[in-house]
Amino acid sequence: MADTRESWQTRLGFILAAVGSAVGLGNIWRFPWMASENGGAAFLVVYLGIVLLVGVPGLLGEFVIGRRSKRNPVGALSSLSDSKGWSAFGHVFVVTAVLLLSFYSVVGGWILRYFGASFTGAYFGNPGAYFSSINYGFEAVAFHVLFLFLTAAIVGFGVKGGIERATKVMMPAIVVLLVGLAAWGLTLDGASAGLAFYLSPDLGYLQTHFLDILPAAAGQALFTLSLGAGTMVTYASYLGEDRSLPVDGTFIAGLNTLVGVLAGFVVFPILFALGSGAGQPGAGAVFVSLAGAFAALPYGQVVAVVFFGVVALAALSSSISMLEIPVSFLVDEYGVSRRKATVAFTGLFLVTGSVNALSAQVFGFVAGTLVNLLLTGGLAGFLLFTGWVLGTDAVAELRSGAGDLGQRLATPWLYAVGVVLPLFLVFTLLSSLLPLLG
Ligand code: PFF
Ligand code: NA
Repeated sequence: MADTRESWQTRLGFILAAVGSAVGLGNIWRFPWMASENGGAAFLVVYLGIVLLVGVPGLLGEFVIGRRSKRNPVGALSSLSDSKGWSAFGHVFVVTAVLLLSFYSVVGGWILRYFGASFTGAYFGNPGAYFSSINYGFEAVAFHVLFLFLTAAIVGFGVKGGIERATKVMMPAIVVLLVGLAAWGLTLDGASAGLAFYLSPDLGYLQTHFLDILPAAAGQALFTLSLGAGTMVTYASYLGEDRSLPVDGTFIAGLNTLVGVLAGFVVFPILFALGSGAGQPGAGAVFVSLAGAFAALPYGQVVAVVFFGVVALAALSSSISMLEIPVSFLVDEYGVSRRKATVAFTGLFLVTGSVNALSAQVFGFVAGTLVNLLLTGGLAGFLLFTGWVLGTDAVAELRSGAGDLGQRLATPWLYAVGVVLPLFLVFTLLSSLLPLLG
């Protein structure tokens, strides 16, 4: 089967697809939500630290597992080890992917709804009431289904013909439009207040709330890099041996962080332009505040169309990477055709997504708490596997195709992913579980 397996057409295609997975609603919607509940810039500091110190080596761990095995996450763990335990553990990633797309496609639906409503100005009169009227319920289900179908259409066309072709067009468009939006945002009256909230940390808050910030910041750092779910394992499984993983990984993490920070330059000045501060907390904050700002600002309607259009592209280039995890699982492990696997999982997501689209409680728990836990635990599992099962094979895999620096960093990297980072991730998990136990 291995010789008929799909692969990326070009190196750039792989990089853009991975960046496309990383850049998404995490940067524009989930980050402001998590940051506004956890001290703003204080959250940003912890989050950026984790992106750098855990994100980059962690990304390389997933790449090594994927390229070595040329399999989906389940097949990867079972083909690279003899233990039944690891292969059972691999199924956690299919569950994680299902939970991820089940709420992500609801938010994607909201974005499509706002994109359409920007043309008619439907939310201009009363942004708060508008959001409450569409967020959970029949409309939310309908637009979640639309977003899901767009996602499935791209995945159904395959790695080269669907994912690579789509993200090659989407990513440059996203960057160009975001730069334009940021330039517009910086001219607004509230820009400096917004940037202050975004960029200057309250160190006192950081000290007193560190253990609350930590799990949320770790979860968000992994979420933004698409780590801990197996997306990056899957994408790297379509990669040849001739690429330098350290170079590609650093580039992907760097570009995601840049786009993420850039998105902050768009979102926070707009949020503060009306003096509304961080807006209403919760998953709807960005929607209500941004819509309110677009309604009030010069050229707001044009900007709104561009903004929600960009966000829709960013969301799609991420949702396809979520759907690709279970699809590649069925294709690799059960020999199902890509089309059939896509249809089967789309059917499942119609149901699981609708549950999220109907219940604010389910949505809040899955999209917030549960995802933080699953991604943190998931990445800890991948890294322990890299360090203790692959060991020197992981070093060899990381070195393959890498330059001088990559050769030398491979062994220290193995200690980091085998020991230091799992300890950190487990500590993070415990710090979030202890309060739950009372
Ligand atoms: N990184 C994506 C975002 O920031 O929107 C979300 C994501 C995609 C998380 C794929 C996990 C994943 F496997
Ligand atoms: Na992201």
